[in-house]
Amino acid sequence: MLTTIAQVGQHVGQEVRIGCWLYNKRSSGKIQFLQLRDGSGFIQGVVVKAEVGEDVWEKASQLTQESSLYITGTVRADDRAPSGYELTVTGVEIIQIAQDYPISLKEHGVDFLMDHRHLWLRSPRQRAVMAVRSEVIRAMYEFFQENGFYKVDPPILTPTSAEGTTNLFHTKYFDEDAYLSQSGQLYMEAAAMALGRVYSFGPTFRAEKSKTRRHLIEFWMIEPEMAFVDHEENLRIQEAFVSHVVQSVLKNCQRELKTLERDTSKLENVVGTFPRITYDDAIKLLQEKGSDIKWGDDFGAPDETLIAEHYDKPVFITHYPTEIKAFYMKPHPDRPEVVLCADLIAPEGYGEIIGGSQRIDDPELLEKRFAEHELSEEAYRWYLDLRKYGTVPHSGFGLGLERTIAWICGLDHVRETIPFPRMLYRLYP
Ligand code: 4AD
Ligand code: MG
Repeated sequence: MLTTIAQVGQHVGQEVRIGCWLYNKRSSGKIQFLQLRDGSGFIQGVVVKAEVGEDVWEKASQLTQESSLYITGTVRADDRAPSGYELTVTGVEIIQIAQDYPISLKEHGVDFLMDHRHLWLRSPRQRAVMAVRSEVIRAMYEFFQENGFYKVDPPILTPTSAEGTTNLFHTKYFDEDAYLSQSGQLYMEAAAMALGRVYSFGPTFRAEKSKTRRHLIEFWMIEPEMAFVDHEENLRIQEAFVSHVVQSVLKNCQRELKTLERDTSKLENVVGTFPRITYDDAIKLLQEKGSDIKWGDDFGAPDETLIAEHYDKPVFITHYPTEIKAFYMKPHPDRPEVVLCADLIAPEGYGEIIGGSQRIDDPELLEKRFAEHELSEEAYRWYLDLRKYGTVPHSGFGLGLERTIAWICGLDHVRETIPFPRMLYRLYP
């Protein structure tokens, strides 16, 4: 019977057949230890010369790194094995002997690995990151499903910008100009007026000439938008959402977190309410620490790290200056120089993972903002309609999937959190 490494536990004492690749091999002359992987996990296959006969021994001897095969063997529970099981091999059917696999088990430089991303994905660490990514996505959908949200897909090709014009990806749309979506938010606001609570989950594009460990050109964003939800409620939903995702990974990805050598005690804190600091207080805090930042400046990555160091959970920085935030954010009713917004900063130096706000619901104020931001009224007329026909208080946020995964996995760089990263100067493979 064909099974997978993840499922061998259901077949202890039985003979199973598994399609797999050889990851590594040790041999003593009488016994060969095959490290096998099939995507679902890793298992050791033990080939004993005296037991298998010449033919099976010979085939096992031919196996090179990344050769593909079907292995047949008897499943044995073994507490010392990382997977908890071992295979006593009884048969080997070679599919292909791989020649000169370029990624050896030694260290390689990151450019080399990135050029071989299509193969690098097979390595235990990269497999673990992808498995965590899959669990993060699953848990996100689960959260929305359980909390009454509808999934809505905003367009990717758009006629206007949603988050400023400096990093738009331009393309031709027949005779018109078009841009790859930077954010689906504006469309999600329309959807929230139709369905109440909605979320999107899809690729977004920023032609950012920044080469940092937090920036991708193509990244995935999750954008919930909620009618009748104010700023406070928006933060509560974000806390519940992020906690659910982190706790799900802790529950379902222990093996992967171990492979990644992640200190999980830090992730265990991510429950309940998150600390908050206002932008005003964050500026003071940075000034006390010797920074020459002034009120009205935006935070750089080092500033965010300094602020986050004060807390052992993600922290909300709230009420940024109106001047430095997007046109659609609702001003504070008593202090119009700040907006009802928050960025969520991950602990341990991972930076901003969420940007969100309450949205302007007053049509007149929105029109004023169009003028201030030099946005064409014609292009945004449909968006203004949302405020003309039954406007309601509403809020939403956008969470960057790759930054969130980098934090949960404890990775230095977002490039390992997405199967095929699109970065400044990298479009291959
Ligand atoms: O803060 P941003 O730009 O917010 C928006 O786009 C809003 N329209 C979201 C909303 O309210 N619906 O982006 C949101 C998040 C950031 O916090 C960050 O996690 C991620 O998207 N992000 C990036 N991730 C990787 N590479 C980039 N270049 C990113 N730019 C933003
Ligand atoms: Mg932001």
